[in-house]
Amino acid sequence: MSAPTAKTPWKNDDCGKILCIEGFCRKNGNTQALLNKFLSDYVGFAIKRYNTFEKNPKPCIGCDFCSKDGACRFRDLDDFFYFFETADIVVFASPVYNLSFPAPLKALLDRLQPYYNGFFSDERKQRIKKRRNAYFLATAGQDGALGFDIMERQLKNIFSVTNIKYMGGSLVGNTDNTTPKCEL
Ligand SMILES: Cc1cc2nc3c(=O)[nH]c(=O)nc-3n(C[C@H](O)[C@H](O)[C@H](O)COP(=O)(O)O)c2cc1C
Repeated sequence: MSAPTAKTPWKNDDCGKILCIEGFCRKNGNTQALLNKFLSDYVGFAIKRYNTFEKNPKPCIGCDFCSKDGACRFRDLDDFFYFFETADIVVFASPVYNLSFPAPLKALLDRLQPYYNGFFSDERKQRIKKRRNAYFLATAGQDGALGFDIMERQLKNIFSVTNIKYMGGSLVGNTDNTTPKCEL
């Protein structure tokens, strides 16, 4: 599989590059606030935001194409793969939904299957040459600890086949006590 490219690459290649993988739908919600706080420590970095609710990646259909070809048959994530492979830091920012990731982010995670196939079919070699660091930020309406553990476990599996070092996570729970309700 050749190195991925993007139509509009990083604006500045000389500074640190952060890819934010956003699992939240609510702009200015709890998770956005947590992510903004995290990013305030990274002034001067190039920041790319990939909001999974806006991008709505196709779900993996288990067609097994990637086990033969190495790449996904769907092309909607071509730009994403470029940013994912060339960032210095990857931040996952997500609310807990039913002890897991909201559906669009779960779809994205399932679409990383080519990296699993590449890793296990190629004597466990990392296909992504660049080592990156990752953080996981989560919010939950209640205590959230169990959901956070489950989600962190899923991410650690993915990090093991995508040449990522997990730097740690942060959970803000009990947001039900503070979140304003949506007007319908
Ligand atoms: C569909 C759905 C499922 C949820 N599931 C959980 C859950 O399993 N555990 C929990 O603590 N909170 C749960 N929540 C609450 C959200 O995690 C919480 O409100 C979060 O802070 C929302 O983040 P946001 O403001 O960025 O949208 C759920 C919310 C929704 C809408």
